Amino acid sequence: MNEQTPPVPYHDTVVRQFTLMAVVWGVVGMLVGVFIAAQLAWPELNFGIPWLSYGRLRPLHTNAVIFAFGGCALFATSYWCVQRTSQVPLFMPKLASFTFWGWQAVIVAAAISLPLGYTSGKEYAELEWPIDILIAAVWVSYAVVFFGTVGTRKVRHIYVANWFYGSFILTVAILHIVQSAEIPAGWMKSYSAYAGVQDAMVQWWYGHNAVGFFLTAGFLGMMYYFIPKQAERPVYSYRLSIVHFWALIFTYMWAGPHHLHYTALPDWTQSVGMLFSLILLAPSWGGMINGVMTLSGAWHKLRDDPVLRFMIVALSFYGMATFEGPMMSIKTVNALSHYTDWTVGHVHAGALGWVGLISMGCLYFLIPRLFGRKAMHSVPAIELHFWISTIGIVLYIAAMWIAGVMQGLMWRAVNADGTLTYTFVEAVKATYPFYVVRFLGGLLYLAGMVVMAWNTWMTVANGRAVRFHVPAATTGAAA
Ligand code: HEM
Ligand code: HEM
Repeated sequence: MNEQTPPVPYHDTVVRQFTLMAVVWGVVGMLVGVFIAAQLAWPELNFGIPWLSYGRLRPLHTNAVIFAFGGCALFATSYWCVQRTSQVPLFMPKLASFTFWGWQAVIVAAAISLPLGYTSGKEYAELEWPIDILIAAVWVSYAVVFFGTVGTRKVRHIYVANWFYGSFILTVAILHIVQSAEIPAGWMKSYSAYAGVQDAMVQWWYGHNAVGFFLTAGFLGMMYYFIPKQAERPVYSYRLSIVHFWALIFTYMWAGPHHLHYTALPDWTQSVGMLFSLILLAPSWGGMINGVMTLSGAWHKLRDDPVLRFMIVALSFYGMATFEGPMMSIKTVNALSHYTDWTVGHVHAGALGWVGLISMGCLYFLIPRLFGRKAMHSVPAIELHFWISTIGIVLYIAAMWIAGVMQGLMWRAVNADGTLTYTFVEAVKATYPFYVVRFLGGLLYLAGMVVMAWNTWMTVANGRAVRFHVPAATTGAAA
């Protein structure tokens, strides 16, 4: 090693912080999910306390699992990946540290303001305008750190995972700023800048692309970096990964109107949304196949590597959700599924199966490395986590599928004289057993997350923070 060119360490403190908080927020967000699932089966669990009411806790759940759990996992993995694939430390590390503390401040503000009843009323963008401004500041800083690191890279090529992470960061910034345009009417009150059908269209342009970019593109970045690493194999087809990228990001943008079928939105717009949703099946499955086939020649690894199993089963659920989504976007199918629990089943096939499992796999990859351990404290505990969460997902989504189709059929059933066969409350009553099964499935999934938190604690308690260095060949130091 040449003394004039000391090794440059990667900035992994922020990766460690986001990794640990992903586990913490995972437990919190899923606990709230289980609680609201219990409230749907046993409404008396509201206890008559306003801040425990379903309407306030539901957005708390969605914000906690998507933005706190998923968000922290995305920050952690993207910061890890972009440094290694660019072979430089993070650009502006102090700004990276601001993204951590700023994001935690957003989460705490959400955890206080939502139960107190402050909401803009826009799904997945419920937080009020002062918090929106903080989100914008954090996100722009994230973009500066990420693209700054890519910009200062020591390798010519930009690895495909960074394209996915980059598109996620850029698009979420645009989505957030457009969707949150609002007129303040007090410190925690605002009115949307849009009205009527335009407001609805902006909402679902935002909502659908939040699915496409927050819940999909960023996690595909994880897939392209962490699956090859864990499997110790190159990506199946690099060419396909590039086609996958451009096809996916182009198509997602136009599919939002499938959330507004049979509404006041012009009919042709709904048809465009449906068409692009059907096309979306191709890039989604192309990407999934690329991820799964990365294991070709190494399938045996699935037998004894539970971390890899998390990642590959995540891809199976991704395939399932992205087959189901295009089907649900067909107007006649949507006429049955819309407003029913089928949608909730679809959401959680994606959320628990894809987003949850791929994040957990990547966190299991990162934790021992970040804390100087060969592996997690207990590998059997990872096995246990895998099995109880998989059983939990199956219970959750199967219950919602059956409940959803049943509700849709009961609502539309008519007698020979044209009157409705069932009252609404009869459909609610028939749904009850499925809500109990969903609650049990959710409880299993949460239990898996608690096992992970214990395993993480034990790994961290017996480890120490590690400083990785940029490979010597790229720092100019003699090898
Ligand atoms: C223990 C695990 C979980 C349980 C028990 C659970 C439960 C629930 C419940 C009961 C709802 C409300 C459904 C309704 O209004 O009818 C819900 C909504 C939602 N959850 Fe979860 N959830 C869990 C995990 C997750 C995770 C990990 C994510 C995302 C990464 C997620 C994302 C969502 C979303 C996006 C919605 C809104 C769905 C819609 O509007 O159709 N959930 N969840
Ligand atoms: C090819 C991909 C996909 C297509 C075409 C698609 C399509 C759809 C359709 C048609 C709906 C029902 C809209 C309604 O009736 O209100 C829906 C809802 C939803 N999907 Fe997907 N989906 C896809 C993939 C995914 C994935 C992978 C996830 C999660 C990771 C996801 C999350 C959601 C959420 C959160 C909702 C509920 C939104 C709400 O009403 O609050 N989707 N999707």
